[in-house]
Amino acid sequence: MTRMNEADPLFEAIVNLSKRRGIVFPSADIYGGFRSTYDYGPIGVLLLRNVKDAWWESMVQKRHEVVGLDASILSPPQVWEASGHLANFTDPLVDCKECGNRFREDKLEDPNACPNCKAKGSFTEARQFNLMFETQAGPVADAGAVAYLRPETAQGMFINFANVLNTSRKKPPFGIAQVGKSFRNEITPGNFVFRTREFEQMEMEYFVPPDDAEKWYEYWCQERMDWYLNLGMTADKVRLRPHDDDELSHYSSGTSDVEYMFPWGWDELEGIANRGDFDLTQHAEHSGQKLDYFDPTTDTRWTPHVIEPAAGATRTMMAFLIDAYTEETGETERTVLRLHHKLAPYKVAVLPLSKKSELEGPAQKLFDELAQVYMCDYDQTQAIGKRYRRQDEIGTPYCVTVDFDTLEDQAVTIRSRDSMEQERVSLDKVLPWLNDKLS
Ligand code: GAP
Repeated sequence: MTRMNEADPLFEAIVNLSKRRGIVFPSADIYGGFRSTYDYGPIGVLLLRNVKDAWWESMVQKRHEVVGLDASILSPPQVWEASGHLANFTDPLVDCKECGNRFREDKLEDPNACPNCKAKGSFTEARQFNLMFETQAGPVADAGAVAYLRPETAQGMFINFANVLNTSRKKPPFGIAQVGKSFRNEITPGNFVFRTREFEQMEMEYFVPPDDAEKWYEYWCQERMDWYLNLGMTADKVRLRPHDDDELSHYSSGTSDVEYMFPWGWDELEGIANRGDFDLTQHAEHSGQKLDYFDPTTDTRWTPHVIEPAAGATRTMMAFLIDAYTEETGETERTVLRLHHKLAPYKVAVLPLSKKSELEGPAQKLFDELAQVYMCDYDQTQAIGKRYRRQDEIGTPYCVTVDFDTLEDQAVTIRSRDSMEQERVSLDKVLPWLNDKLS
């Protein structure tokens, strides 16, 4: 993967829009930013939340055999010893002896040339750098206080396997799903929020009878591809790529990546892995607890195999943002985020034509009604055309304008983001009209 050229017009446009419209800000901005960390602003927090909610809806809400979990971020070394992360979760690190910059050796375009100072043959021998953030839990900084910020949400699901099995009365095939923050001390974070040290994941561990693992692996590959497509991602910009044998993680007997065509080329959005019984077996051995399933139909105990669809929420949000970003020229020049309505930060904006007028009463009343159901914006500043453009830029599918005729005919104008067509709808029909379009 190459880093995105910062002069790339699409990259520049997305970063500028993100900052200008409150989608993503560099973290600690007033202090000059902090090491590739980002804050999600008023619009970004809604977009990110909608991505996570759409995932949760399809992976948990709509499936009776999947349950949710919210495990802790801090965890003891035993978890990471058993999972293999203490030994294996490393990237090869090289230093440039000329300029002192550090790089991931496996991501260098030319392994002999420093991308920063261009010196040739200036790299040190690669050493394995563990990506986990280590910290201390408790007031005494001794060896017993060592804790790690989780580098993936997955292990929380494995170590709670027995808790969930015993309390939820599920039996394989069943899944445990989780959305939450993960932390990796990436050597080269970059490409905006694509690779950061603090990010959010959406992962599900699907526990299946060993003989059915391959079937479920194929099933989840298809399901996950469909999720991106159903949310409007451009079909020829998303693909499923099976890993070559030399790419497979230490735990995996088969992995496919869902990839998106980012401005720098195809890159990963999600990995779907057939993890076998690796995780449950490891944690059973290290903890001394039974992590298997007693099958009353066959009177046998067996360790379920695991199929894991593991996606990045922040990275997926960025992909949807890039995919939706459109600059239109011609009669109307505008920037539009053509987001699927499920992902749009605001579903509707209520716009009284003139502020500080008798329009405020009905506009506020309409906002109160719609806001019971939908995330709504309310904007009464500047000319109406400018307000439409502002809503286009953040992807709001519908704008409802309350004008002076409203006082007479009890109707409003609804303008659609994509077609820019306008329709007069009576005030008491606005909510059902929206329900129909946004369902
Ligand atoms: N439990 C398996 C696992 O964590 P992974 O491929 O390392 O697998 C899953 O991570 C997803 O998490 C990736 O496909 C990516 O979307 C996201 N991800 C991983 N590292 C990331 C980072 N540094 N910044 C943003 N997203 C990241």
